Amino acid sequence: CGDRIALTPPMGWNSWNCFADQVSADKVKKAAEAMIKSGLVDHGWTYINIDDFWQNNRDSKDQSIRGKLRDDEGNIVPNSRFGDMKGLANYVHGLGLKAGLYSSPGPWTCGGCVGSYGYEKQDAKMYAEWGFDYLKYDWCSYGGVIDGMPGNDPYKVSSLSYKGGNQLPTAVKPFRVMGDALKQQPRDIVFSLCQYGMSDVWKWGDSVGGSLWRTTNDITDTWTSVKNIVLMQDKAATDAKPGNWNDPDMLVVGTVGWGNPHPSKLRPDEQYLHFSLWCLFSAPLLIGCDMEKLDDFTLNLLTNDEVIAIDQDPLGKQATCVKTIGELRIYVKELEDGSRAVGFCNLGIEKADISYRDFNITGLKGRLRVRDLWRQKDIASIDSRKDSLQLHVPAHGVVLYKFTTGK
Ligand code: GLA
Repeated sequence: CGDRIALTPPMGWNSWNCFADQVSADKVKKAAEAMIKSGLVDHGWTYINIDDFWQNNRDSKDQSIRGKLRDDEGNIVPNSRFGDMKGLANYVHGLGLKAGLYSSPGPWTCGGCVGSYGYEKQDAKMYAEWGFDYLKYDWCSYGGVIDGMPGNDPYKVSSLSYKGGNQLPTAVKPFRVMGDALKQQPRDIVFSLCQYGMSDVWKWGDSVGGSLWRTTNDITDTWTSVKNIVLMQDKAATDAKPGNWNDPDMLVVGTVGWGNPHPSKLRPDEQYLHFSLWCLFSAPLLIGCDMEKLDDFTLNLLTNDEVIAIDQDPLGKQATCVKTIGELRIYVKELEDGSRAVGFCNLGIEKADISYRDFNITGLKGRLRVRDLWRQKDIASIDSRKDSLQLHVPAHGVVLYKFTTGK
């Protein structure tokens, strides 16, 4: 794989779903400290990612984010809540963690802060000098650029070639520009594309240097949002591989709420399903909650190493839905050791009782060992030709098993 990075899906925290426009360096430092104190770091959680609002804003009433957008040389200036970005990255690194930030290929981010349009190389250089390890690059106002606002596009479409000379599609171009700029930096920076799945990004994200890409719209901590996002993931499933991850958005667990904090509205069973599916999907795992308010349930949910191992499996396959029985969806993920993770995911409101006879679902033959991953217990050894297994899957819940050949 040469210089490939993010060979397993990135795991960490992102500021958006808890702090939104209220994020500050102080809150980011506290999140990093909580990552250590809670012990999450020992389970692989590593990135501390600042989302929108570390930059200055064009129209906020909040004076703390209304400073100069760029200095006289065109260098981006962080807002007064951040100030010393290099110091912040150093602090995060000092704790043994990695640091991420956020921008847009448009002139403005989705929240109206200054974006990278026209300053891509300069910004990439600055991020590297500050010491950041991860960039989420969010489409936002780039659509306005294509429509002729706010002026001429300095990157003429025809000046860049895409896959051997064809004209570079507008959806691809701004990511290519930043991807190239990041590659020129003397440090690895994970490139996360955020454009909500437009133009089948999973087909070309890799070609612009992306390691992960959002496949769908923004998640909220409601069952409807999670269910809709889940039902839209199949289209990209076969394109996931090491260094190329489909991103169904943040984990809406714990205390979330865009600066208006409340416990996730997902019920406990819904949270088990949410986390299990993100692991089956080989999704980037980015905790969306206020890390200082981690409760026992959330901490337990995020520290089951056998479940996390499904997400982090080095083979890097994404589970596919192999069978549906009403609203029960059965997802199978092939793992590096030849075994299979199988998620029995009940998206319906009736408890699903199924007799699991059709072991061909796993693609494995002969005697199979069945392990319940949430309980970390072997629960059966079955003959795939004749035995059956009774399953009870709660409404909006999950049963997550691993099937291994042999005794
Ligand atoms: C978009 C993205 C979110 C977040 C916000 C920030 O909505 O999809 O994840 O980054 O912008 O403004």
